[in-house]
Amino acid sequence: MMFSKGLEGVVAAHTAISHVDGNKGKLLYRGYDAGELARTKSFEEVAYLLLNGELPSNQQLETFTFELVKKRKLLSALDNVITSLPKELEIMDVLRTCISCLNPQTNWPPTKEEAIHLIALFPTIIAAWIRYENGEKPIKPDQTLGHVENYLYMINGEIPTNAHSSALTAYLILTMEHGMNASTFAARVVSSTESDLPSAICGALGAMKGPLHGGAPTGVLQLLDDVTSHAEGPEKLLRQKLERGEKLMGFGHRVYKTTDPRASALRDVLSSSGGEDHTLSKAVEVEKTATLLLAEYKPGRALHVNVEYYAATVMDALSFKSEWFTPTFCVSRVVGWCAHVLEQAEDNRIFRPDQEYIGVRER
Ligand SMILES: CC(C)(COP(=O)(O)OP(=O)(O)OC[C@H]1O[C@@H](n2cnc3c(N)ncnc32)[C@H](O)[C@@H]1OP(=O)(O)O)[C@@H](O)C(=O)NCCC(=O)NCCS
Repeated sequence: MMFSKGLEGVVAAHTAISHVDGNKGKLLYRGYDAGELARTKSFEEVAYLLLNGELPSNQQLETFTFELVKKRKLLSALDNVITSLPKELEIMDVLRTCISCLNPQTNWPPTKEEAIHLIALFPTIIAAWIRYENGEKPIKPDQTLGHVENYLYMINGEIPTNAHSSALTAYLILTMEHGMNASTFAARVVSSTESDLPSAICGALGAMKGPLHGGAPTGVLQLLDDVTSHAEGPEKLLRQKLERGEKLMGFGHRVYKTTDPRASALRDVLSSSGGEDHTLSKAVEVEKTATLLLAEYKPGRALHVNVEYYAATVMDALSFKSEWFTPTFCVSRVVGWCAHVLEQAEDNRIFRPDQEYIGVRER
C-alpha cells in the first residue's frame, strides 16, 4: 500500500467548488477567476456562488443578503457565553467555543440555511469579543450595511471608508476557498460521519488555529519594517537574511510555483483604490527586490510572492491587531468550509484511510 506523508498527492475528494492550478497560478471558483471576482463582485455574491454553484440574479442576491442580515444578531445565549469566558482566550478559541454552543438545526444532511447562519454569525462573534476584551460594549449589527462593512462597523463603531471596505472585501473574497487545505479537509472528515454542520466547522476552526495553516501576515509586516528601516536599504538586509538561511515571509507556496494569483489580484485592487498607502508602496518595492534575490539564492525553487504578503498590507491599512488576522481569515473561509460540507453530504462516504503498522510485532 502506498504511503504519502501529509497525504501529499492523494486525491481525497471530487469537488466542483474550486480549482487551484499551481503551475499556471490560477484559482477558479466554480469556473470563475477568483481575482476577477475580487475586482468586480461583493462578498455576498461570491459567497452565493460558492454555496450554490452559480452567480445570483438580482432577486436571488436580494434574498440571500436579507437572510444573512437577518441572522447576524448575536443570540443572547452567545452573548452570555462571551461575557463568561476568560479574557486571556485567543479569538480562535472564542469562535470555536461559540460555534460549539449552537444547537444544530438539523443533524444530517446539513442545509444551506444553517450555512448562512454560520457565515452571518462569524463577524458578529469576533467583533463582540474584540469589544468585550477591550472593556467595551458590543455594537449591534447595522442592518443597512453589507457583510464586510458591517464587520468593520461592529469593531470600530464607525462606518468604514470605501477604501477600507473594498480592500477587506477583496482579501475576503480571495481567501474564501482554496481546495483541500487542512481545515477544509477536517470539515469534510467530520461531516462524513454524518455529524452536524457546527461540529464540522469546529473541526475546521481547530485546524485553522495552528500556525502552519492560519498563518499570519504578522511576519510580513515585521519583514517590511525591518527592511525599510535598515540603514543600508532593503537589498542589503534581504541578502543578509537569505545568507543566514532565513525564509522571507510572504514568499513561497506549496502549491503555487509562480505568483500566487491571490497576491497579484490583491496588489492590483489595493493599488487601484487610489489613496496614499505607504505600506503598500513599500511592499511593492520590496517584492521586486525579494523576487530577484530569491531567484539568485534559491535557483530552481520557483519562489514568488504569496497571498499573506499583500494580506499584511490590508491588515495594516485597517489597523488590525495581529490577533485579529486569523479570525478575520475565518470570516471568509467559513464560506468554503460550508460549501465543502454541503458537497460532501451530496455523495457521502465516511473517510477511513489505512495505516501502516511500524511498531513492535506480536510479543
Ligand atoms: C509556504 C512554505 C511553507 C512552502 O513550503 P514548502 O513547499 O514546504 O517549501 P520548502 O520549505 O521545502 O522550501 C523549498 C526550498 O525553498 C526555500 N524557501 C521556501 N520558501 C522560502 C522563503 N520564503 N524564503 C527563502 N527561502 C525559501 C527553502 O529554504 C528550501 O530551500 P532548500 O531546498 O535550499 O532547503 C514556504 O515557502 C515558507 O515557509 N514561506 C514563508 C512563510 C509564508 O510566507 N507562509 C505563508 C504561505 S501562504
